[in-house]
Amino acid sequence: MYQEIHEAPAAVERLREGGRRALQRLAARWRRDPPGLVVFVARGSSDNAALYGRYLWEVHLGVPVSLAAPSVVTLYGARPRLQGAWVVALSQSGRSPDVVTFVRAARARGAFTVAVTNQERSPLARAAHEVVQMHAGPERSVAATKTYVAQLTALSLLAAEIRGDRRLLRAHGDLPGQLRAALGVEEAAGDLAQRWARAEACVVTGRGYNYATAREAALKLKEAAYVAAEAFSSADFLHGPVALVGERFPVLVVAPPGPTKRHLVGVVRKLGRRGADVAVLSSDPVLLRRVPGSLRVPDGVPEELTPHVYAVPAQLLAYHLGLLRGTDPDRPRGLRKVTRVL
Ligand code: F6R
Repeated sequence: MYQEIHEAPAAVERLREGGRRALQRLAARWRRDPPGLVVFVARGSSDNAALYGRYLWEVHLGVPVSLAAPSVVTLYGARPRLQGAWVVALSQSGRSPDVVTFVRAARARGAFTVAVTNQERSPLARAAHEVVQMHAGPERSVAATKTYVAQLTALSLLAAEIRGDRRLLRAHGDLPGQLRAALGVEEAAGDLAQRWARAEACVVTGRGYNYATAREAALKLKEAAYVAAEAFSSADFLHGPVALVGERFPVLVVAPPGPTKRHLVGVVRKLGRRGADVAVLSSDPVLLRRVPGSLRVPDGVPEELTPHVYAVPAQLLAYHLGLLRGTDPDRPRGLRKVTRVL
């Protein structure tokens, strides 16, 4: 896991080069015949990447996006009408059976299907019309890390290609360097892990594009460190779950620059009044001063690409917390790299 976290910058570089032709082909198809609906289908970390894709594509492409509930097809046998829709499956292995089954059913019902996968010769790649190969290199650790960042990158690159958004396309060139800089938070992540080493539960919260980051951080904390980490959109969090939080309850707030920041600063203030043990993931100097012991993320990343960079400190925190709590982050108990659920 540790090595693969450090391979994210190289994975992004390879995807920018190796994935360009497929992404441009897809973008040209979209512009010729824009779909009225996109459905993402994925599980686990890949589903968190899909959640990011939902926010990004709805904001940037103006298309309604749904996240598939595979059991609708795999257990209930429903056949949703998907004529003219794009169904985009995200799967590192290309072998999650429910994802593959959903794509086959969607294709049979007239959807245009795309597989974003690290395995070009997988059942998923064979099932879809088009394949975007992630080029992340083999991922051996059970916990997905570099491939999560690569999935986010495939989704943001494709949105930028479709819109012909030169600013966003250029910004991807800075990502490998920003990811390398984010790896520099390791010491702070280790310190925060020490502070939270005895916590059995925590909350991770964020909003907008980084709701996905909150979910992914919580998943990594559960898998690699066995902490009952729960993720909430920070809007939803205030609608009830915040009642969980009392004195010294650990909360990680993902607070990048952009339209969500003001709200998140308010959340940090509220949590402070409850005596919570708050840390923020942010590049904002004022917020970082206000919440000592937080994780400083490199500045200058456009908000759309902050989830890519903010994933890295979250992964490092989970890894270090796992080590301190005596788990083996590479082999979480009872898990395999491919989960066979239909
Ligand atoms: C989490 C993790 C799993 C996978 C999930 C989907 O770290 O690795 O949750 O993301 O099993 O796997 P793929 O992407 O291979 O379909």
